[in-house]
Amino acid sequence: MPTSRRNDGHAPPPAISAVALRKSYGDKTVLDGIDLHIPAGSVFALLGPNGAGKTTAVKILTTLISADGGQAQVAGHDVAEHPDGVRGAIGVTGQFSAVDGLITGEENMLLMADLHLMSKREARQVTAELLARFDLTEAATKPASTYSGGMKRRLDIAMTLVGTPRIIFLDEPTTGLDPRSRHNMWGIIRELVADGVTVFLTTQYLEEADELADRIAVLNDGKIAAEGSADQLKRMIPGGHVRLRFTDPTAYQAAASALTEAARSDEALALQIPSDGSQRELRSLLDWLDAAGIEADEVALHTPDLDDVFFALTGSDKPKETVR
Ligand SMILES: Nc1ncnc2c1ncn2[C@@H]1O[C@H](COP(=O)(O)OP(=O)(O)OP(=O)(O)O)[C@@H](O)[C@H]1O
Ligand SMILES: [Mg+2]
Repeated sequence: MPTSRRNDGHAPPPAISAVALRKSYGDKTVLDGIDLHIPAGSVFALLGPNGAGKTTAVKILTTLISADGGQAQVAGHDVAEHPDGVRGAIGVTGQFSAVDGLITGEENMLLMADLHLMSKREARQVTAELLARFDLTEAATKPASTYSGGMKRRLDIAMTLVGTPRIIFLDEPTTGLDPRSRHNMWGIIRELVADGVTVFLTTQYLEEADELADRIAVLNDGKIAAEGSADQLKRMIPGGHVRLRFTDPTAYQAAASALTEAARSDEALALQIPSDGSQRELRSLLDWLDAAGIEADEVALHTPDLDDVFFALTGSDKPKETVR
């Protein structure tokens, strides 16, 4: 595989990379210069509100449409110059199901195997293995139109895996699934990652990006508004704090009168000190408590969650009911 090939003894090339990727429809700029660098074997989540351009990015990287500007490489192949090389290395599960409802789950799988030019024997074997892995053996001979949403989505991913791609694109793999099916899907994605597959994921669910992704990029107004690990993103916006809780009112009073920037909760004997959550800030606070001979009974670090980050970066207000 090109992704695992060593590059003159240096780090292996990224599985997916893009520089200044642009795409417009008419006078509407959808992608306004996107850079990506996704190491092989990692999970990357592209997060953005409806219409942000997530599917557009997936379509360009998977060679379904072409960009207006910039460059992208997938599995070492330029998407514009060597689309066949890209297609041979990737699997794609689109935002909308590719399952044909009129034929059975098994027939859908065999069709994919056919597209991969597998022999009949190999096709039967791969189909049986994948259907079993995705808990679809029992439903295999029923028309796919009778499947539940979760079963269809599992079949979608099983179809994507027929050619054992090393890089897979999942455009909103869990949208519309109930919490249990969503957790099952996360398990499937984690298994793929454990096998060394690179996963490019788009999602509306911040929790999903938090659970699965090594790196997250927030797409807004055609640009990547922020990129980093979930923790890095959470530290980028204010709202984090250290909470100290006391059982001894004297200790509480001593800390409260010295830590003037802290928000007090006299009833709970608790203080909230604004903090970026860094080791340095936490240590200096704990050192100060030690030096002052003040003992807190509980020290808790609160970092803002991804919802805070997302709504801060995309400029919308955080709704009262957030996606959980
Ligand atoms: N073929 C097209 N012709 C014209 N406009 C398009 C086309 N495809 C996408 N767009 C527009 O590009 C923008 C980005 O669409 P895209 O589907 O990439 O968003 P998305 O982030 O995937 O949204 P969602 O979360 O709803 O799936 C939207 O404003 C959409 O209307
Ligand atoms: Mg989309």
